[in-house]
Amino acid sequence: MPDLLVDIDSARDGAPLYQRIADSIRADVLAGRLRRGERVPSTRTLARELRVNRNTVAQAYDQLIAEGFLAGRHGSGTYVADELPQASFSVRRARQNQRPLRRVALANTPTPPDFYRRVLQPDDNKPFKAGYLDLRLGAPDVDAFPLRNWRRMVGNQLLVARRNRMNYGSAYGMQELREAIAAYLGRARGIDCTHRNVLITSGSQQGLWLAASLLVDKGEEVLVEDPGYLGARSSFEALHAKLLPVPVDGEGANPAAVVRAINRGAKPKLLHLTPSHQYPTGVSLSAGRRMELLELAARHGFMIVEDDYDSEFRYEGRPLRALAGIDQHGVVIYVGSFSKVMYPSLRVGYVVAPHWLIDAMVGLRWHIDFMPPMLESAALAQFIAEGHFERHLRRMRTLYADKRDALVGVLRRKLPAVLPDPLPPGGMKLVLHVPRHLTRQQAKEKAEHAGVRVYDQSVCHFDPAGAPETLTIGFTALPVRQVTEAAERLAGAWA
Ligand SMILES: Cc1ncc(COP(=O)(O)O)c(C=O)c1O
Repeated sequence: MPDLLVDIDSARDGAPLYQRIADSIRADVLAGRLRRGERVPSTRTLARELRVNRNTVAQAYDQLIAEGFLAGRHGSGTYVADELPQASFSVRRARQNQRPLRRVALANTPTPPDFYRRVLQPDDNKPFKAGYLDLRLGAPDVDAFPLRNWRRMVGNQLLVARRNRMNYGSAYGMQELREAIAAYLGRARGIDCTHRNVLITSGSQQGLWLAASLLVDKGEEVLVEDPGYLGARSSFEALHAKLLPVPVDGEGANPAAVVRAINRGAKPKLLHLTPSHQYPTGVSLSAGRRMELLELAARHGFMIVEDDYDSEFRYEGRPLRALAGIDQHGVVIYVGSFSKVMYPSLRVGYVVAPHWLIDAMVGLRWHIDFMPPMLESAALAQFIAEGHFERHLRRMRTLYADKRDALVGVLRRKLPAVLPDPLPPGGMKLVLHVPRHLTRQQAKEKAEHAGVRVYDQSVCHFDPAGAPETLTIGFTALPVRQVTEAAERLAGAWA
């Protein structure tokens, strides 16, 4: 006879007791935890176990017998019915009944973010021909990742504190990791915060989504850079926000456009910015504009999402402080990521924001994923605390600078007109001018023909047809030798 785990406390609060007992047993039958033909405890036994009146259990059994889930055999107790009632779990019927729901869901499903297919996962399933060089965007050099150290950290966390690492934990994320991030951001980005301002998220994408979900209602306005990051834009669109473009020039997003929109009656709730290395142009937001945009946000009551996705990779001059580090008004929501500085599939990012917003985000996160993964968080906290993270960053900065030098060196010698002027001070990619005698498409095809994949980011513009004739290349993923080779091939193909 099975042990019946009848759960009369949680199911359907307020329903009569016999109903809760029947619900629990019915759920066990439907889930297959109680098999057909299996004997269930007598009313007397179950009543004793549950400390309820025997009549209550009898009433529950009577209902289940009437529904066809249980069968009573005279003199030999009660069993799960051999033939279960079809209507209750007919998949076909359930599907039919759900058709109208399905129509509603499909109508409300946003189109899959184009950037995911085009930018983040270019033809992942299609193996490249041998010798093909993919100048992939936003992809760190995973071959240079300190795998042995990382494996040790993850292994330690499993061995030393297995119980703690394998259970549910805080929806804010592990305190040790939040503390390590707060301390790191103080040192590296000039952001004065404590762990209470830090929420660990599943990549910075979740941070963007949480912030926008809480702060922007359907039909409300969000200011976004033009050209800008499609990962952010598509989220705002999925939330039915109205997008207002803020044109980007050599100094970054132009505050004059924000003023114009507001003068025309716009009441934006959010401004999404990539101030360190603007996505996709790579320009750095000037110091003057940083102050202007912060003041506009404070004056007109919108918040700024500072998406600092790859600020760590700066090769020239001193990095500018993060906006969150000079924000006097509490208007900045800082969104950071370990995707570029560790590896993208780690899916660890973070939000730094005022307490009230962090608490609200946690309220929302409960409905999504409860909490971030503990094992990776613990390993990462140790990785940062023991200095491995910043050592890794310094090594990668040198390595990427070498790759960038190699690429720029070849192009400067052979095809200087394609290089941006000035070169962006950091980042993981370069936006090249297409040679005058070619269209963007022709240049892309010639590159492909020479065995080099380059990227057309005109889709990042509100008006792709009016986008400048440029193509983008990532220089971080491949070894220096192959980056040099790719530059040589491009110069040859485009000459
Ligand atoms: C502008 C921008 N923000 C954020 C990210 C990273 O997102 P996640 O942290 O979710 O991997 C990227 C990655 O390409 C990006 O380009």
